[in-house]
Amino acid sequence: MNVNNMSPLWAALRRDFAVPAAAFAATARAFQADVAAALAGDAGARALLPAYVANPGGGERGYCLALDMGGTNARALLVELLGGGTWRVRRQVACRLRDASRGYDYIAPATTPAALFDFLARLVGEVAPAGGTRLPLGFTFSYPCRQSGPAQAVLLQWNKEIEVPGVVGRDVGALLQAALDRAGVAARLRVIVNDTVATQLAGAYAAQDCRAGVIIGTGFNACYLEERSFPPPGRIINLEAGDFAGVAANRYDWQLDAASANPGGQRLEKMVAGRYVGELVRLAAADLARQGLIRHAAAWRQPYAITAADVGRILADTAPDLPGTAALLRRWGMADSTAAERAALRRLGALVAGRSARLVAAVLCGLVRCSDPALARRHVLAVDGALYRHLPGYAPRLSLLLRRATEESGGSVVLRLTPDGSGVGAAIAALLVE
Ligand code: BGC
Repeated sequence: MNVNNMSPLWAALRRDFAVPAAAFAATARAFQADVAAALAGDAGARALLPAYVANPGGGERGYCLALDMGGTNARALLVELLGGGTWRVRRQVACRLRDASRGYDYIAPATTPAALFDFLARLVGEVAPAGGTRLPLGFTFSYPCRQSGPAQAVLLQWNKEIEVPGVVGRDVGALLQAALDRAGVAARLRVIVNDTVATQLAGAYAAQDCRAGVIIGTGFNACYLEERSFPPPGRIINLEAGDFAGVAANRYDWQLDAASANPGGQRLEKMVAGRYVGELVRLAAADLARQGLIRHAAAWRQPYAITAADVGRILADTAPDLPGTAALLRRWGMADSTAAERAALRRLGALVAGRSARLVAAVLCGLVRCSDPALARRHVLAVDGALYRHLPGYAPRLSLLLRRATEESGGSVVLRLTPDGSGVGAAIAALLVE
């Protein structure tokens, strides 16, 4: 068995997942041009989705409820904004959207809109204060929505492999308020924001130099404060950056896309985000097995058997002989993996994670160039998401790539981790539109 790093198949794999300097620069330029075309209203350009908020001043105060529905978890929070850019989370509950061990799945095709929103309303009910005070509620909903008001948001499509029928084309604000009323929860939905927008709001509440938000989690996306196209103070625009299609896909990307819930959509997200990095590793591992470089394991035939957390475990496995990777391979049906097979898996994980960081870095360079074409200033981006936070080496690598990309121009792109941003940002938004 030839798992040699120098074999032609490995050379091909390295090429498949490479983002050479020229492709990096072209991606940044193409993303910038894509946003400019959309802002100019070009026919055929991707839709940009303005939020009904701009940056906060940092002095906003009060109690608010927040609900945050991502791709994996939902959370409800009771937040006290203290002014001076600080807050306290007074109560918080979090729940997975699907939990086989507890026998529920609110994001499967068999779920109804009422079941999903009743579940979300119950979470809000758990943190809402008793006694009938109807607190304002901000709702972070991490899917593309067209808004016609702060609390009206029509879902354009589900992403991240969520498939609850009967929600696309409907106002998720109305669905949530109806569920809150059914459950008798004392909360008034005031505003709906994307998770990138919420993260930017939390970043800007703490420090006013923050003018963009980024999520690198189950999904991938970015937003920024657009000041030229709107009257002061501008509006934050959700770019739906994961839907950017200007990056060359490799054979595994095509395979993944064809079998996904939304073929043709979210092309970039499917190359970089947490929902997909494990699946790319699985597809490449299955290919290695087909070509006889590693052996077959049951998991190679099972879509989404490898998760981003598994890729994280593999990358964190630095001990000689890779015992953590051996344990994973056992779980996946290869009881007696060889050191070479474990090393092959680790190399695949590094290739997929490395490409993700390079593509994200390129797109973020394109994003800041929208307002600063020469990349001559300092840009602070609030960032959150499980992949960014937990994939070993990912955050420092991204920062390094951004530093290298800007060092000649004299500008900089600073990523400021904003934990809890997608929850707390919804509360800040609710106070902003009061
Ligand atoms: C959604 C975005 C969201 C991103 C990160 C994507 O799938 O389309 O709206 O911001 O995931 O959660």
